[in-house]
Amino acid sequence: MKKRTFIKSGILAMGAMLITKKGSSLEYYPRPSDKKWAVLYASWCGSARDAGVWISEGMDGIANVFDVRENPDLSHYDNLIIGGAIRGGKVSQELQNYIAGNWDILRSKIRGYFAVCGNMMKPPTAETVKLLIDDHIAVLCGISNLPSRVFLGRITYGLMEPDVRKQMEGYKMPEYDNLKRSECMAFGKEILASVSNRG
Ligand SMILES: Cc1cc2nc3c(=O)[nH]c(=O)nc-3n(C[C@H](O)[C@H](O)[C@H](O)COP(=O)(O)O)c2cc1C
Repeated sequence: MKKRTFIKSGILAMGAMLITKKGSSLEYYPRPSDKKWAVLYASWCGSARDAGVWISEGMDGIANVFDVRENPDLSHYDNLIIGGAIRGGKVSQELQNYIAGNWDILRSKIRGYFAVCGNMMKPPTAETVKLLIDDHIAVLCGISNLPSRVFLGRITYGLMEPDVRKQMEGYKMPEYDNLKRSECMAFGKEILASVSNRG
């Protein structure tokens, strides 16, 4: 390969890498949509991400799905759903910081909340929703009485930070997977209907 061609292809490859490295949402539009919906999630091991994607799927895929660690610009969206995985009774610090730092953009657009947790593998009750949504996520966002859902999640040891894995294995906690796509999709439909019904 000539020296000039080699340098040129090197620059092109670097450009491509820079483009792919840029944070972007998960876009699963089956067809173009003018509806400006986004799901914002925070997750450690992926169950809250899957819940977010399946919520969007329940809305026929019209919502873009963002990991809070991408620090997304949500100012161009009209409707937002916010949720996260729970550790120690709380969503991640990144999500808490993001909400605090972007509150002006978010506050008039939030249409629903979700949390993904273990809940000792027991079905979430009204008390669980109060604890994780009403008294936590809704307080962080400053807006209450929106459609909300607590989903049971998963434990996958292979995806945990080594110290966390050691701690969880110490509790003799078995791996489990209680997240249900159908429940997440139903919640997506419910939120969409709640906004359509407002006219
Ligand atoms: C270190 C740690 C702490 C957790 N704390 C809680 C908790 O306080 N309450 C709860 O119901 N579930 C708790 N869980 C269970 C997680 O919420 C559950 O595994 C969830 O699916 C994780 O979501 P993610 O895969 O999106 O990170 C905890 C899990 C871990 C690993």
